[in-house]
Amino acid sequence: MTVPTITLNDGKTIPQLGFGVFQIEPENTKAATLTALEIGYRHIDTAEMYGNEKEVGEAIAESGIPREEIFVTSKLNNGFHAPDAAIENGKKSADRLGGYMDLFLIHWPLPTVIDFVPTWKSLEELYHQGLSRSIGVSNFQAHHLRKLHEQTTIVPAVNQIEIHPYLVQDELRAFDREHGIATEAWSPIAQGLVLDDPTITRVADAIGKTPAQVVLRWHIQRGDIVFPKSVTRSRVEENFAIFDFELSDEEMSAITALDRGHRTGPDPDVFDYVPA
Ligand SMILES: NC(=O)c1ccc[n+]([C@@H]2O[C@H](COP(=O)([O-])OP(=O)(O)OC[C@H]3O[C@@H](n4cnc5c(N)ncnc54)[C@H](OP(=O)(O)O)[C@@H]3O)[C@@H](O)[C@H]2O)c1
Repeated sequence: MTVPTITLNDGKTIPQLGFGVFQIEPENTKAATLTALEIGYRHIDTAEMYGNEKEVGEAIAESGIPREEIFVTSKLNNGFHAPDAAIENGKKSADRLGGYMDLFLIHWPLPTVIDFVPTWKSLEELYHQGLSRSIGVSNFQAHHLRKLHEQTTIVPAVNQIEIHPYLVQDELRAFDREHGIATEAWSPIAQGLVLDDPTITRVADAIGKTPAQVVLRWHIQRGDIVFPKSVTRSRVEENFAIFDFELSDEEMSAITALDRGHRTGPDPDVFDYVPA
């Protein structure tokens, strides 16, 4: 199964399907990541906040797969936005993940807590130092991106935001696209919430695929990057088997029409959580 790649605005390529490790306990992360790598995933999405970067790094080292064949993303924790802290913590994340990151993101903009512009300049420095081959943001709204655009040099390579059939985010995706920013969809199956939806089960039954496969395929055909999480081997396999079928235009539109602006996670404009 060949996973398509997306070319980012800095010329690097990212596999369109990856494996997410949010909410995988550190003690289970190495095994889960090794399973994903064995199945064929070559893109892992972690974060300092998840507490399992070290175990992702260990899995990569143990897998025997050359580091440069795996695309690894991490994210700056909310407590480390001050410029020096951002550099220091970016270096620590790179260290845990085999000496560099492929992609490093500001995890949340925290607009009510701190100015994210100096933080972004620290990520630019990490990029220039080669500690992250690409840099981007997560949970940024259009007005946050506009501010970066006006005050900084490097355009983020990606914007990682919550997207699934109940929150299709077409406006923000269009903004990203117009500015050369690739969109990544977090919680692509809404942590399971959308899998019982009658429209999705109807499409799944009609084409003989599972609801999760239908939803992940919908993301792929829209051009977004996804990294579903699972600690269940059969699901990790199922989520990888989405490149031998296509949804019709009617099926795509029916799924997009399920949008109800429903967030499972926080609203980025007000989210202000900073760990003690
Ligand atoms: N940037 C951000 O702020 C942010 C926020 C949230 C997530 N993320 C990233 O996005 C990744 C994915 O999001 P997520 O973990 O929140 O949610 P998700 O991938 O939408 O859903 C994960 C949940 O769905 C279940 N599942 C997975 N595959 C399934 C299948 N084929 N059939 C039925 N159930 C299935 C998993 O169960 P089991 O594990 O029990 O099998 C787990 O409970 C994260 O791991 C993380 O890397 C980023």
